[in-house]
Amino acid sequence: MAVIINGKAVAEKICTELKQKISTMDKKPHLTVIQVGNNTASSIYVNLKKKKAEELGIKSTIINFEEKITEENLIKEITKLNNDNQVHAILVQLPLPKHICTNSIIKAISPLKDVDGFTVQNSGDLLNGAVPNAYPCTPKGIIRLLEEYNIEISGKHAVVVGRSNIVGKPIAIMLLNKNATVTVCHSKTTNLEEITRQADILISAVGKKIIFKDMVKPNATVIDVGIFKDENGKTTGDVDFENVKEIVGYITPVPKGVGPMTIACLMENTVELFEHQ
Ligand code: GUN
Repeated sequence: MAVIINGKAVAEKICTELKQKISTMDKKPHLTVIQVGNNTASSIYVNLKKKKAEELGIKSTIINFEEKITEENLIKEITKLNNDNQVHAILVQLPLPKHICTNSIIKAISPLKDVDGFTVQNSGDLLNGAVPNAYPCTPKGIIRLLEEYNIEISGKHAVVVGRSNIVGKPIAIMLLNKNATVTVCHSKTTNLEEITRQADILISAVGKKIIFKDMVKPNATVIDVGIFKDENGKTTGDVDFENVKEIVGYITPVPKGVGPMTIACLMENTVELFEHQ
């Protein structure tokens, strides 16, 4: 049976260290989270972020705009935050309503306050192998888990399922920068199981049950980024955990796997941006 990767414990360790560090600071870091509309999942995530920030001594503000705010006005609000020297980190919770162009909004965020690492400057630095102001939180958390469990990346075949700008693309680049051989699969991939069976490190970030036991290689590492409710209302991930864990070497559970690491890395990014400014 696989080693169950304890994301919750690693995240708690990161947060304990951050809390200690923040307690020695005269001035505290300030994270501002923008939510547009009231998507239920987004509200849960935004509140979790605020709660964790407060626990660690990070000042946090949630700004909630109504669903029908225009792109122009949202950009104006972000510009105000860029110019406010009491705000050190800005996060615009995604997804945004359809009438707003996500890329235009991300472009409006100052790269120095871009706590997600999504701006053109920070994602460009990532692509170029330079150090961005912040690494995207979920990919950063995944790399941290692999390192914490001494899972070799260099020379390994990493297969990423999902090509989102939030997880799939940046984790693929980060693994490539660490000398993995990387394959990215997505909804149009025709021979998914043939490819996933070759993975030494399999990362699934899809949001539906998609990875089953006949799709994994014995002793592989499986990282499950998916989180959603199944038909019985139980929180679950992309991977058929109970069956896959009998075959692979390491696996993350859902919940208590990648999720807490995303929040811990968001807190770490906030502190790092603050220290930069
Ligand atoms: N929505 C889901 N995950 C994320 C994330 O990491 N950052 C932002 N801004 N929105 C998200």
